Amino acid sequence: MNENPETGAPLPPHRTLTTYYAADEERSAYVRDVFDRSAKHYDTIEKIFGNGGLLYRRMSMRFSGMKPGMKVLDVAIGTAAVASNAAKIVGPTGQVFGVDPNRAMMNEARKKFDGPLTQGVAQALPFADDTFDFVTMGLALRHVSDLKAAFSEYHRVLKPGGKLWILEGHIAKSKIGYALTWLVWAKIVPGLTLLFTRSRDAKEFMDYYWDTVDQCVPPEEIVAALDSVGFQHARTNVTMPGAFCEYKGQKAEA
Ligand SMILES: C[S@@+](CC[C@H](N)C(=O)[O-])C[C@H]1O[C@@H](n2cnc3c(N)ncnc32)[C@H](O)[C@@H]1O
Repeated sequence: MNENPETGAPLPPHRTLTTYYAADEERSAYVRDVFDRSAKHYDTIEKIFGNGGLLYRRMSMRFSGMKPGMKVLDVAIGTAAVASNAAKIVGPTGQVFGVDPNRAMMNEARKKFDGPLTQGVAQALPFADDTFDFVTMGLALRHVSDLKAAFSEYHRVLKPGGKLWILEGHIAKSKIGYALTWLVWAKIVPGLTLLFTRSRDAKEFMDYYWDTVDQCVPPEEIVAALDSVGFQHARTNVTMPGAFCEYKGQKAEA
């Protein structure tokens, strides 16, 4: 991987996962392919949890300071799980933009989200500096090639005072907590996914979800990376142990 001159050494979100691809250079192509194959099942997986994840996203974004009238960028929009809820918060006086590298996921997003959609990656956002009041990213941090490059881009496109909200998977640290998290996310959820979708591709996607969350760099490194690109108040909090955590930060006021 090439070094990013602006942000120093790259920080990949996890080690090479050879069960899925042979070398780091093949990771992006694998990620594109797995989402191509599972896009039509993504919302079914949300439904297994009674769409509770959608309500959670809305409540958490509101709690984190998203308000009516704001201009929001949802990075890795996927099927619009975050963006459609952000649109409800910002209302008619605000606007939500979505960006994602994957056309199949954005085609699913289009069924329920009518804001602007742009093809692109977190590490090179196709937007001008100081554009957004709020940047969001739901369950996609593990798919970028370089965390620092992505964070640097989030900081660049935020207006002074703008806020960042990132939702990620969480694994409990204690022995028993880890065992329970593994049982739920490595066994039960992929099993239920196969049962409800009848799709091996969708199950593979949930297997990959667990492996990337399990192998993700530790929260302290992610917070340090946010801090290193200039975010103020960079922090993480565990919102649902064994399920979700969040990363937040704010661009300095002008
Ligand atoms: C698990 S989905 C998350 C969708 C949605 N944000 C949510 O909260 O459910 C992950 C999304 O990340 C996208 N993605 C993969 N690599 C990316 C990158 N480098 N930059 C931005 N998005 C990426 C995928 O195409 C996919 O749509």
